[in-house]
Amino acid sequence: MMAEDNFNLPKHIAIIMDGNGRWAKKRGYPRIVGHKAGVNAVERVVRAAATRGIRYISLYAFSTENWNRPKNEVTALMGLFKYYVKLKIDALKKENVRLRFSGRFSSLPESIKDILREAESETLNCNKIDMIVCLNYGGRQEIIDAVNIFIQKNPQKQIDEKTLRSCLYLPDVPDPDLIIRTSGELRLSNFLLWQSSYSELYFTEKLWPDFDELDLNEAISSYSGRERRYGKT
Ligand code: IPE
Ligand code: IPE
Ligand code: MG
Repeated sequence: MMAEDNFNLPKHIAIIMDGNGRWAKKRGYPRIVGHKAGVNAVERVVRAAATRGIRYISLYAFSTENWNRPKNEVTALMGLFKYYVKLKIDALKKENVRLRFSGRFSSLPESIKDILREAESETLNCNKIDMIVCLNYGGRQEIIDAVNIFIQKNPQKQIDEKTLRSCLYLPDVPDPDLIIRTSGELRLSNFLLWQSSYSELYFTEKLWPDFDELDLNEAISSYSGRERRYGKT
């Protein structure tokens, strides 16, 4: 790869992985089959992102609103997260992938917490790419949690931008340069509300289980051709 290929490469890509249910429906399968196919897409895309030199990838896996889905789907999804993370810890470590969690940890089922803790500590020193799994994540909830942490520590003080940022779930992670959403929906659905203020957005009709390395490259190319002005001329 030539050096100029890395020009204007996003450092952090965040993905709203949408369309698993429709992918399964099209084939006459139950929705969970779509979620399983979505897990394969995760592996493929994280590997491709690491190869491209992306340093952080955030994956919206389960929102605070997704608890409102039918119980059997929620249970199946939680089972899938557990199974996948446990199964993949060694492989992630070998590929130098640091697995990190973002979201409201406290209200997750105990068995998932244990596996996430283990995966985080096992891959703590991996530094090729940070794979951030946003689970029980909500952007408004994150801001509320941050403000509450701040108030607890500094009851008399006013909050400012820098301090609020320092109270977010993963304060060391830079804002996403590029946010991708699959399946043709044109909204953020409560994802990274604070961090997305100057992110570039990329939408594709592709359903998440069909998203591959070529789609990722297309999104990156689109990003690379944009001018980020941050309010300047
Ligand atoms: C995204 O796919 C995965 C999760 C939200 C867990 P969906 O399950 O939302 O798929 P559609 O939108 O119903 O097709
Ligand atoms: C957003 O997808 C959440 C995840 C991808 C985890 P949804 O399918 O839940 O979003 P809405 O309900 O269509 O906005
Ligand atoms: Mg959806």
